[in-house]
Amino acid sequence: MPSIVVVGAQWGDEGKGKATDSLGNRVDYCVRYSGGNNAGHTIVVDGEKFILHLLPSGILNLNTTTIIGNGVVIDLDVLYSELNALSSRGVEVPHPLISANAHVIAPYHQTIDKVTERFLGKHRIGTTGRGVGPAYSDKVNRIGIRVQDLFDASILRQKVEASLEQKNHLLVKIYNRREVDPIQMTELLLSHADRIRPHVVDSARVINDALDDGKVVLFEGAQAHHLDVDHGTYPYVTSSNPIAAGACTGAGVGPTRIDRSVGIAKAYTTRVGEGPFPTELFDADGDRLRETGAEYGATTGRTRRCGWFDALVVEQACKVNAFTDLFLTKLDVLSGWDRIPVCVGYDVRGERHDVMPMTQSEVHHAKPIYEYLAGWTEDISSARSFDDLPANCQAYVKRLEVLSGCRISGIGVGPGREESIVINELL
Ligand code: GDP
Ligand code: IMO
Ligand code: MG
Repeated sequence: MPSIVVVGAQWGDEGKGKATDSLGNRVDYCVRYSGGNNAGHTIVVDGEKFILHLLPSGILNLNTTTIIGNGVVIDLDVLYSELNALSSRGVEVPHPLISANAHVIAPYHQTIDKVTERFLGKHRIGTTGRGVGPAYSDKVNRIGIRVQDLFDASILRQKVEASLEQKNHLLVKIYNRREVDPIQMTELLLSHADRIRPHVVDSARVINDALDDGKVVLFEGAQAHHLDVDHGTYPYVTSSNPIAAGACTGAGVGPTRIDRSVGIAKAYTTRVGEGPFPTELFDADGDRLRETGAEYGATTGRTRRCGWFDALVVEQACKVNAFTDLFLTKLDVLSGWDRIPVCVGYDVRGERHDVMPMTQSEVHHAKPIYEYLAGWTEDISSARSFDDLPANCQAYVKRLEVLSGCRISGIGVGPGREESIVINELL
């Protein structure tokens, strides 16, 4: 039985949530392995829209067991507000299993996220302000709080005190903010302990046992390759490893246990927050992509920056994640253009690059070199097989496949769960 990892191939918001959800009840376990509630994954079922931030996207498929892995950072308020929001809409889902080793985002992480951004001024990252970066910093600094710490009040208090010692100096003396009381903070964190306890597991063991039993396990990435702290456009990245290899550390499985690596790529490109984006459009074409594609952030509501498909960006992701398949989303958004530019190279100060340049400053100076593909006018949202697509649309997909260096196994033609074309089954 296969296990599969789903990874964003660009800068996020490619439609990972929909792609994950649409694999449906064929998935026995859906595991989030990185990030936190900086993610916004949209799923549309029978015209009803659900946006999940922390909960795994498999949660709406009731036969799927969902797991929040050790690599995720968990805001406990968000966990329960998301579960309550589903329940108040009449959608009763099983509580996800939670890794005992996952780290907790505390309110002080959010405060630090926001003040750091303010102090960075024009060098800011444009974070989601959810405290994700500071929670990962604490993890690496060995002053983080883990889910398992909630079950030992005295240990928790010591850890909160240790974590706040330096932060309180910083908050008061540098950032002019109020001190955080460690006792009150400990109590706040403890208030979730009883509720979460029955769901906390050694998730690496649960996942490996499931694989031993031949279950289908889907590792759901958040963010994307180019937001990866090691492989992305650093420092304009998130603070974790969304790449496929991140599933090994973030869920606790060996690399030989993952059979398929699926990249989710939008038929054009978007980005939220700061950082280089060579094919970004600042004109009416960009506005048109934004309006047709409804490109507004699912987490912060920010306007997404829009641009043409950048083959260098996706090719790099294909290589580093060893994608076995690509799922091309939002192809329907491109209906109605006379011709569609696709970036096939960069001009960096007069020098041509056919793959992503090595250094960040080259990426910042990259001017896209476009190839122009013929457009199509037909509405393709009811297409359910590759043959249903107009000839120019088929040629667009085929060209992207060649440029990316990976076969395109699925195509999204609308936000709904059923609005996809399957070329090669992923499971
Ligand atoms: P994620 O973060 O990768 O899960 O993606 P988001 O949910 O943030 O953003 C993707 C947006 O595109 C959502 O509004 C989806 O409902 C929508 N979407 C996903 N796939 C398609 C598609 O094939 N066509 C169209 N038109 N919209 C899609
Ligand atoms: P999904 O899973 C798009 C971006 C932020 C910012 C940078 C760092 O929905 O694709 P952070 O809050 O993580 O410290 O912000 O990363 N970012 C995303 N952009 N989609 C996401 O998630 C993102 N998660 C973080 O905008 O530029
Ligand atoms: Mg998103």
